[in-house]
Amino acid sequence: MVDDKQFDTLLQEKRVFRPSRDFSKQAHITSMAQYREMYEESIKRPSRFWTKVANNFHWFKKWGKVLEWSEPHAKWFVGGETNISYNCLDRHLTTWRKNKAAIIWEGEPGDSRILTYQELHREVCKFANAMRSVGIRKGDRVIIYMPQTPEAAIAMLACARIGAPHSVVFAGFSANSLRDRIDDCRAKAVLTADGGFRRGNIVPLKKNADEACKGAKSIKKMIVLRRTGNKVTMKRGRDHWYHDLMENASTDCPAARLDSEHPLYILYTSGTTGKPKGIMHTTGGYMCGTYLTSKYVFDLKDEDTYWCTADIGWVTGHSYIIYGPLLNGATSVMYEGAPNHPDPGRFWDIVEKYNINIFYTAPTAIRAFMKWGDDHPNGRDLSSLRLLGTVGEPINPEAWMWYHKVIGGERCPIVDTWWQTETGAIMITPLPGATPTKPGTATLPFFGIVPDVVTKDGVSVGPEGGGLLVVRKPWPSMLRTIWGDDARYKKQYWSDVQGCYFTGDGARRDKDGYVWIMGRVDDVINISGHRLGTMEVESALVANPDVAEAACVGIPHEIKGECIAAFVTMKGANRKNDKLEKKLKEWVVKEIGAIARPDYMRFTDALPKTRSGKIMRRLLRDIASGADQVGDTTTLEDISVLQSLQQYQDE
Ligand code: WTA
Repeated sequence: MVDDKQFDTLLQEKRVFRPSRDFSKQAHITSMAQYREMYEESIKRPSRFWTKVANNFHWFKKWGKVLEWSEPHAKWFVGGETNISYNCLDRHLTTWRKNKAAIIWEGEPGDSRILTYQELHREVCKFANAMRSVGIRKGDRVIIYMPQTPEAAIAMLACARIGAPHSVVFAGFSANSLRDRIDDCRAKAVLTADGGFRRGNIVPLKKNADEACKGAKSIKKMIVLRRTGNKVTMKRGRDHWYHDLMENASTDCPAARLDSEHPLYILYTSGTTGKPKGIMHTTGGYMCGTYLTSKYVFDLKDEDTYWCTADIGWVTGHSYIIYGPLLNGATSVMYEGAPNHPDPGRFWDIVEKYNINIFYTAPTAIRAFMKWGDDHPNGRDLSSLRLLGTVGEPINPEAWMWYHKVIGGERCPIVDTWWQTETGAIMITPLPGATPTKPGTATLPFFGIVPDVVTKDGVSVGPEGGGLLVVRKPWPSMLRTIWGDDARYKKQYWSDVQGCYFTGDGARRDKDGYVWIMGRVDDVINISGHRLGTMEVESALVANPDVAEAACVGIPHEIKGECIAAFVTMKGANRKNDKLEKKLKEWVVKEIGAIARPDYMRFTDALPKTRSGKIMRRLLRDIASGADQVGDTTTLEDISVLQSLQQYQDE
């Protein structure tokens, strides 16, 4: 929901930061005039614009039409044949980049590895052959449930090489969440590890995977990386060790010729209703979108050491640790662990150790660093940094200013990038050598993107007006559908505002045309930049045999942006009970994963509902965030429910 208080502070935000002359001079895009000219071309002559981009790549077969659009279905580079793994790797091997670092990896315990383009290519070819040797073929879905190791990147690129769509499942998700995803895409194989390191502990990934695969009929194979050395059980016939398969695998694996629209991956993300949706991305358009945004938004140069701190389990890890940077022949840093392990200076140690130039992280991390104190960054040499970025949620101006001063030393431009799992690549963003930035806004559209802020009827609202954020034209890296449910794809994204893709976000545009994202307008909660549907947490709660009914809402949280407050009605007596609360919270963690653990839990005899039986989450939100006055209650069926909830609050 658009929060009025936030709206007010953003309205008062008047500070403007222009790129320094030095930065602009060396940038790919040096001025607003250049941005405008290229933007114009990208909108007026999209075929010409995207042809130039696609020509950077190797195509086994040239495409015919650039775009075939039949709302809401897009095909880009129609009939073309290519391979994104080839374009991330092989393409660089005939250049000086052959021995350039592709991935610099830092493990949580402090171990480190560097893979050059040549080495990464070799490992990817071997692993592609290893997967083939156990029967994985083009079109088979492969789940990747691995710690953030080079092998996770190798696995993704190997899948892409043979045309087996990957679906990376965040290693923090539970066995149940993993099973849902396996079943939904009917995956043939799971790639996992004995364990992963997280804050010094071992996450039992193989054990979770075993549990998830119980009864999962589609799963034929499991490949297990040895990472932590803890004991696991291997199921004969189904399970193979990664290192065993790699031992005899050939290094010769020509990349498959794939149609431009061949599915590259499925990534699950939360929506308002039901189970997570499998967002499907394809090959050619995604390649162009991630390549171009990486180049221009991060002003990526061959000399740069670039670090995106995301997890590969989320879209940011896909597009901006792996595909976008490697398509550019860049050096991408990958870190396995937590930002505060062994101490809150870990990120800054990494910046110092590798002389990071470009640093891309989430507002939630920035707020945590602010809380941990300036001593940590101040005690490290951060002078290598030249550009900073954020993604995942609105950044509050206070956190923006801190990032600018304490991390950026007031010299680094900040790119606040708005996009979604569905959009595949960055959509609204400053270009660091051109765009004057203001704390709290993602500013202007990227090339080829036509966003608008509209009323429910699709009418553009004028300057300073608020409304729904939509995109008016198809773009190359857009999702193609929801895996296995095209009807849901249409309904979810293409039915709210006629003729437009609806993002689910509310936004406002200021007099300079800058877009200020106000947050979700639906029941999606953004916790630490990760999306969760209230429905998912509610379904998890009511799956507990003692729970009668549950309603969850997102409420503001100092560090996480939002956190979950759960209102629960138990079967039988509803006594406030700490033990019960703990038990139910653990239950949610087991059902979904630790990110879904409710911060607050209230037990109640009844939930506030409308006459038609809809839970009034708006009122619950007011109660949970401790507002003195709750909003409009005219549609509430039984006012006494509210009174007892408020009373409970005062207890
Ligand atoms: C929010 C993450 C404000 C937004 C790449 C969007 C943002 C959702 C920003 C997508 C930003 C992302 N400013 N809000 N710069 N970036 N969001 O799919 O609500 O995990 O719809 O993709 O995060 O989250 P997702």
